[in-house]
Order: sequence, then structure tokens, then C-alpha cells
Amino acid sequence: MEAPVVVLATDDAQKRDALAVRQEVFIREQGVPPALELDEYDQTALHFVAYAGRRPIGAARLRPYDSDTGKVERVAVLADWRGKGVGRLLMAAVEREAAARGFVRLRLNAQTHAEPFYRKLGYETVSAVFEEAGIPHVTMVKTLNP
Ligand code: COA
Repeated sequence: MEAPVVVLATDDAQKRDALAVRQEVFIREQGVPPALELDEYDQTALHFVAYAGRRPIGAARLRPYDSDTGKVERVAVLADWRGKGVGRLLMAAVEREAAARGFVRLRLNAQTHAEPFYRKLGYETVSAVFEEAGIPHVTMVKTLNP
């Protein structure tokens, strides 16, 4: 089996691949309404896609939050690929790109079940639990290495 690779989407086909992974994970598996899953930031955000060969198996997006801070959203790995390091690989690519673009820190709203995943990658919880799309979340932040 080919080792997964993560790319920054540069064309519409790759962006569609990111949306296909999100559709499978957030809309089909988690039951998030499509009208919430897709939003206006998809037009302007940076999209990352993890591929196993030609198959898209993971996705994430990055957008500006303020001048120093990037916001990571829609981090998803297909169920049959979880626990194999793909999420870690995606987040490493997001962090590299964010640092290269001058962001000092990253911020994200983690589904509480995923909090240990992000904590392992160096994110700290900075909020109480709140609901988004009917799912409990916490806000987490990480300072990037320059
Ligand atoms: N609880 C505790 N630890 C976890 C974890 C969890 N739910 N998920 C991953 N980890 C740990 C792994 O054990 C691994 O640790 P190790 O390197 O010491 O072995 C490390 O985090 C990296 O895990 P990785 O295999 O790269 O994670 P993944 O590819 O399974 O991706 C998610 C993690 C959260 C992206 C994936 O489970 C997912 O897509 N879930 C459904 C969608 C979702 O909820 N996304 C988060 C929205 S905020």
C-alpha cells in the first residue's frame, strides 16, 4: 500500500476531493446538515487533501482568523484510514503552510472526542465546552515554531 501524502489543493479537482472526504465524514457519518458543512469560507480557504495513491482519504482547511492567527477547520480522515497517522500528517502540512504564510499561532474548534488527538499535537484547550452543529466542541490553540 502506498504511503499517504498530503497536498495543498491547487486546482478544482483537488478541492472537490477535499469536499468529498468532508461529505463522507461530516455529512454522511456524523449527520451534519450540508448547509452547515459547506460555507462561504470554502471559496477562499486553503484546502489540504491526504491521498492514498489517487484516493482522497483525508482533508482539512485553513483560513485567516486575525492577522497573526490561522483557523483550522474541517479536519477529517475516512473511517477506514483512522489511527494510521493521516490526521497527524494533515495537521503537519497545515502547520507548515500556516508558518510559511506568517501565522504565529493556530486556533481550532475541536469536537470533544478529538481533543486528545489535538492535545497530542501540542494544542491547548482555551474554552469551556460549547455546541456547534449540535456537537460538543472546545477551542484549542497552538503557537507555531517560526
Ligand atoms: N483519542 C485519543 N487519541 C487519538 C484520537 C482520539 N480520538 N485520535 C487520534 N489519536 C492519537 C493517535 O493515537 C496518535 O497517537 P500516536 O502518534 O501517539 O500513536 C495521534 O493521535 C495521531 O493520530 P492519527 O492516526 O494521525 O489520527 P487520525 O488519522 O485517526 O485522525 C481525526 C484523527 C480526529 C482527524 C479522525 O479521527 C477523524 O477524522 N474523526 C472524524 C472527524 C472528526 O471528528 N474530526 C475532528 C473535527 S474537530
